[in-house]
Formats: sequence, structure tokens, C-alpha cells
Amino acid sequence: MQNMKICRTIAECRAEVATYRKAAERVGLVPTMGFLHQGHMALVAAAQEASDRVVVTIFVNPTQFGEAADLEAYPRDEARDLAMLQEAGVDCVLIPPVKEVYPDGDETIVETTRMANMLHGLVRPGHFRGVTTVVARLFNFVQPDIACFGEKDYQQLQVIKRMTRDLAFPIDIRGVPTVREPDGLAMSSRNVRLTPEDRQAALVLSRSLAAAEQAAAQGTTIEALRQLISDTITAEPRATLRGLDIVGATDLSDLSGPLTSPAAIMISAEFGGILLIDQRVVTQ
Ligand code: PAF
Repeated sequence: MQNMKICRTIAECRAEVATYRKAAERVGLVPTMGFLHQGHMALVAAAQEASDRVVVTIFVNPTQFGEAADLEAYPRDEARDLAMLQEAGVDCVLIPPVKEVYPDGDETIVETTRMANMLHGLVRPGHFRGVTTVVARLFNFVQPDIACFGEKDYQQLQVIKRMTRDLAFPIDIRGVPTVREPDGLAMSSRNVRLTPEDRQAALVLSRSLAAAEQAAAQGTTIEALRQLISDTITAEPRATLRGLDIVGATDLSDLSGPLTSPAAIMISAEFGGILLIDQRVVTQ
């Protein structure tokens, strides 16, 4: 197995990527916040499929966390992450310190003004601004040809697609389907923080989406879908529904009445104080 290059600075990473470019190799990027699971490895596999070289970034981005406690509690395990990436055949990993990404005196932000401040963005003010600000920087550090993001963070994926288009980054953004545990729970770094009871209760998310998908296929309205999902989740006593949105699949626009075009259902719910999200695109 070839040696994976580990970079701690932008300069080191750029020098490494320059060698790929010199060989006319196509570069794929997978931005992560570490504590990798099978969902991340699916992004790596998708990037490997679409490019010659894969760069993974591991950076727990402080600007996308609302509360300092949430940032501190975010799980980290660099040694395990590196072993997984080496095993998967990743070419280069960038693990920059905070000062490298946000230099002293930093004052630049990137924000999609509409899409960042709706839906999950209302529950987590400033979150998507933090995401686009860091992803724009990572794009600029690595300058990949393609970049892979999970469909699970559906609004994030659409926000990043819009930012990439608006700023004319020459990068092909790929959405990769959600990887699930055998029982249907969408994989997330937060799952390890759930108690066994809350983990069991969290299955209500995928269950409610499956019921919605079935109802959609038989023909229904947006209002009936909303009622079905909300009833299913509120029937689970350990769940607190925080957000339920059914919107146009690409522009996140409001929908009502009969389901006539693909709709994205996005749910966020808390289980013992841990916020989980799940999503599905449904059509008739
Ligand atoms: O999805 C994530 O893990 C993060 O939001 C991302 C895209 C790596 C930006 O910090």
C-alpha cells in the first residue's frame, strides 16, 4: 500500500496537489470534520471512482458550531481516522490547525444569503455561513476538480452547490447517498453520544421517511405528508421534533398542495439533547 501524505499546512498540501496536477491527474476532495464512519468512507469511495487522486481534509470547523460546548463535545480520533484513510487508499490528508484556516485578523465570510437562513439554518443560526466560509477556503487550498458531500446533510449539499455556482468554482459537486446502519439509522458522528434507549428511539426518523415515501408513491399532498411524519415522530416519547420541511428538491422552495415534482423532506429531531437529522427525496 502506498504511503498517504499527511499535511498540516496549506503550503504542504498545495505542493502535494501540484505533483498530481503535473501528472495531469484529476483531484477529488472529501471535506470532513473527522471521527470518520462508513458514511465518510462512501464519500471517499465516490471521490476515488471519479478522480485519480483523493485529498481528505479533517478540520473541526469552529465557525459552524453555535455553542462552544457543542464544539468541545465533538468527538475526535485522529489516529483512527488516519488508519481508516490509509486503508482506503487515500492519497493525501490535510489536517490544518485553526490558525491555518482562520489566520489572525481574519474577517472574511462566505454566505448564501437565502438558502443559509431558512430550514435547518433557522434552528442553527450562522451554521451554514460557517460551512460555506470553511468549504470555500478548503476549495481554495486544494483546488480540486470534484468534491463529494453526503446527501444526508441535504440543505448543506444544496447550499454548497449554490455557492460553487455563484462563485464560479470550477468544481463538480457530487452528492453521495446516505449510508445507514442495518436497522436504518443514518450514520453520524453524533450517534455514539446517544444512550441505547435514545438510539433505539431515533429509528423513528428513518421509519417516518419510509412511510412518507410510500405515501408519496401512491399520490398525496404536501400537507398530508407533513401530518404523517409529524404524527409518527411525536408518537415517540423520547423524540423532540425540531424541524420538518418539505421543499423543492433543488431550490429548497416552499411547496404546497399535490406532490407533482420531487420534494426533499428534511427532519431534525433531538434525542436526549442530541440533534439528529435525516432526509429523503420523494416523488410520486
Ligand atoms: O459535513 C461536514 O462534515 C462539514 O459541514 C464540512 C462540509 C466538512 C464543513 O466543515
